[in-house]
Amino acid sequence: MTRKILVTSALPYANGPIHLGHLVEYIQTDIWVRFQRLQGNACWYVCADDAHGTPIMLKARELGITPEALIEQVGKAHRQDFAGFNIGFDNYYTTHSSENREFAELIYTRLRDGGWIDRQTITQAYDAHEGMFLPDRYIKGTCPRCHASDQYGDNCEACGASYSPDELVNPVSVISGEAPVEKASEHYFFRLQDFEPMLREWAASEGLQDEVANKLQEWFDAGLRAWDISRDAPYFGFEIPDAPGKYFYVWLDAPIGYMASFKDLCNRQGMDFDQWWGQDSTAELYHFIGKDIVYFHALFWPAMLSGAGFRTPTRVCAHGFLTVDGAKMSKSRGTFIMADTYLRHLNPEYLRYYFAAKLGNGVHDIDLSLEDFTQRVNADLVGKLVNIASRCAGFIHKRFDGQLGPRLDAPDLFRHTSAHAQSIALLYEQREYARVIREVMALADEANQYIDEKKPWVLAKDPDQADAVHTVCTTGINLFRLLMLYLKPVLPDTAAAAEEFLNTAPMDWSDAGQPLLDHQLNAFKPLVTRVDPAAIEAMVSESRDNLKPT
Ligand code: MSP
Ligand code: ZN
Repeated sequence: MTRKILVTSALPYANGPIHLGHLVEYIQTDIWVRFQRLQGNACWYVCADDAHGTPIMLKARELGITPEALIEQVGKAHRQDFAGFNIGFDNYYTTHSSENREFAELIYTRLRDGGWIDRQTITQAYDAHEGMFLPDRYIKGTCPRCHASDQYGDNCEACGASYSPDELVNPVSVISGEAPVEKASEHYFFRLQDFEPMLREWAASEGLQDEVANKLQEWFDAGLRAWDISRDAPYFGFEIPDAPGKYFYVWLDAPIGYMASFKDLCNRQGMDFDQWWGQDSTAELYHFIGKDIVYFHALFWPAMLSGAGFRTPTRVCAHGFLTVDGAKMSKSRGTFIMADTYLRHLNPEYLRYYFAAKLGNGVHDIDLSLEDFTQRVNADLVGKLVNIASRCAGFIHKRFDGQLGPRLDAPDLFRHTSAHAQSIALLYEQREYARVIREVMALADEANQYIDEKKPWVLAKDPDQADAVHTVCTTGINLFRLLMLYLKPVLPDTAAAAEEFLNTAPMDWSDAGQPLLDHQLNAFKPLVTRVDPAAIEAMVSESRDNLKPT
């Protein structure tokens, strides 16, 4: 039966460029989506820019443009970066859209009418000079514990202490430099605590990752508390319908952006939104996210959906963070690499492959070691995978007019390779990409061994062995074709080039069963070239250059 699956990646903030850390997520998700489509499932993939909040408002101000102009500009760049890495969204939208406003208002109204919105007056740091309340990140001062100066309002980078901004010594507003004052204001709260039974049930039934399930248990044990969903003007976002001057906190309307993006797609494709988001939906809903935002996706979001009468997510799939050469990405080391910088120097397929080779279904961090990256891509993709085709294609073209022979020489090897379609599919489904890559490369080793043993280059010297050369090379090409199919979710461009060479329609999973025989090939071009270490160096030094004051 074909499944109906809706997949999302987290919505990147519209105040900065996409970097390689983000790409862990978008590549992980895109591979899964491509895999589902190759299985013949109806799989849609939507995303959007997360366009609201104080940082975006202030960034626009700093640039002397409107927030609308900023998010437009950043949205364009994000789309371009994602296209450059072959991230195949069906829709890439923005949370600053009429659909999102409507859904945010609808969900809020339903939660309010359900009795799940409280109002409460709280006091917060206020910048009287700027006339705005200050999020913790916009207050700096001296750490109350170790007395390090210039520390953020919520934690100290010197000693690691966390505290509340009113504990800071000599606090100042990052925006005006003036000392903040305390000011009272009424806020709107979502009664998350009322949803504990529902959340416990959801968590138990949804096969969450162990780490995520444990986190949830900790949060339940600590006790759920009401969530502040309002912010005072000035704020870039949606005004709360019955509360002039108050805005939805960006994290309220951000996940609703998943619905809004899908709604926009439905409008264009004539699909029925309710079949996907209605309470009785039989479709599957997957959110791919980083481990830093599990709280929002595994507590607030299912609770909001359930309170407002929508279906809850099938699963939240969290991943870890990217480190480069064993350390946090760093501008001074040139390892804070932007997507567009990478694309100026290297083939996106390399990074897709490398991340796949590193990704499992857990939340541990993954490391991009630039040296390992070079070796891995060169050894696996060039040395093993493409090598199979390049060792055979020449003979087929020179001696047999590019025509594959009528039979396979080693049907067992083909059958064995073909039988792996099932186990590899299971691994993709479970997001165990590193294990997919290991299996495929083991099969590539076997294929190369087979060619080594048969030595078509020796057989080719003996005119009596023409048939043998033909079947050996036909077998080699067929093994290559299977491996390329298995890697197609990871390497869409390379697979397309291989399909061109193989002169076949786009392959899907069901093509694993049958060999190509008596079939005309197109000319062979090298499908992947080696990683040039000079290109890596250039990329790193360009990333370092970004640091220079502008
Ligand atoms: N706007 C929020 C998400 C809202 S979803 C309704 C946000 N944006 S983000 O731009 O900071 O991050 C987008 C995604 O990229 C998140 O899932 C985040 O975990 C992921 N990553 C950002 N930096 C990352 C790394 N260095 N490594 C791996 N993933 C990272 O959070
Ligand atoms: Zn400190």
